[in-house]
Amino acid sequence: MEKMESSAIPFFEEVDFEKLSDECQQLLATLPREKTWDGSYYYLYQGFWFRAIPLHGIILFQKHFQAEDEDVLIITSAKSGTTWLKALTFAIANRKDSPLTQSPLLTTSPHQLVRFLEYDLYYMKSEYSDLQDLPRPRFLATHLPYELLPPSIKDSKCRIVYMCRNPVDKFISLWHFVNHNRPEPLQPDSLEAGLEMVCKGIEGCGPYWDHVLGYWRMSRERPEKVLFLKYEDLKKDIICQLKRLAHFLGVPFSEEEERQGMIEEISRLCSLDSLKNLEVNMNGMHTSGLKNSSFYRKGEVGDWVNYVTPSMAERIENAFEEKLSGSGLSFKMSCNTKKEDN
Ligand code: A3P
Repeated sequence: MEKMESSAIPFFEEVDFEKLSDECQQLLATLPREKTWDGSYYYLYQGFWFRAIPLHGIILFQKHFQAEDEDVLIITSAKSGTTWLKALTFAIANRKDSPLTQSPLLTTSPHQLVRFLEYDLYYMKSEYSDLQDLPRPRFLATHLPYELLPPSIKDSKCRIVYMCRNPVDKFISLWHFVNHNRPEPLQPDSLEAGLEMVCKGIEGCGPYWDHVLGYWRMSRERPEKVLFLKYEDLKKDIICQLKRLAHFLGVPFSEEEERQGMIEEISRLCSLDSLKNLEVNMNGMHTSGLKNSSFYRKGEVGDWVNYVTPSMAERIENAFEEKLSGSGLSFKMSCNTKKEDN
């Protein structure tokens, strides 16, 4: 595995297979694939759909990653609030190291402070990554489903913080994200086409219902191992959710900290408005070649009503209801809608 090290590959363009490792090329040739709404392909790998580019990193991650008991893994499917969760986790875990007014979050992207495994540390790399050099405890991130995680993550005592988001807002967010990072704007009908695919479970790391269920079940079986959060719950009551997060990480807020307003301060520091307007997040670039600014947009619950017809939202809601039935988990999307069906 050598070929990816030379230069960054634009993420949402059709892949130049020559730049992928031989192993990855051979694998891709055998996998079922579906053309996506943005013109590239999703490949069905071990029961989940992925774009070609991260597969190179996924294979290395699965083969070589050795979890340590003190590791904390931030896990999400793309566009469910990863950036926010990384910032909050980093701020909570490191709050004793420096005052929040001097937090590294003010000058460094959350994606640089909590790096992705398949999109960064193993991305464009050969056999070995610089994981050994990271400060301990390590805070790392991935979008992989539970079933595909390397065994050492499951077998060690490392902790997983998982966050999900309602699938329609998540898709609208992804659509804007892809648009922001492409040289040419997406065709308007790509949105409808993408939603159709979401209904069938064909999206990055999808089916999303299986992604969510894998972590939901583990959070119930092993609550000390997996903390399960919802983006919408953080938007509704950030204080309560930050207390849960700090407790899970083994660094609960003291009464003194609560009195001094530490939780509110962390919430403010990591808010969309605060992060979005920092120089590093307005003008910096992620190692994968994506613009940092593309990770910040509206951050609203229910923004889908501005893009999706109620009937399409209902179809997606029904598809998820069916797949999640009996699990105790649900996504509620129905609310007053602005856009009329036509
Ligand atoms: P929208 O596109 O709906 O605005 P991810 O971080 O997983 O890539 O998800 C990106 C989504 O999270 C975007 O949603 C983005 O605006 C939102 N987001 C980013 N930072 C946030 C923050 N600090 N607070 C709330 N939402 C945030």
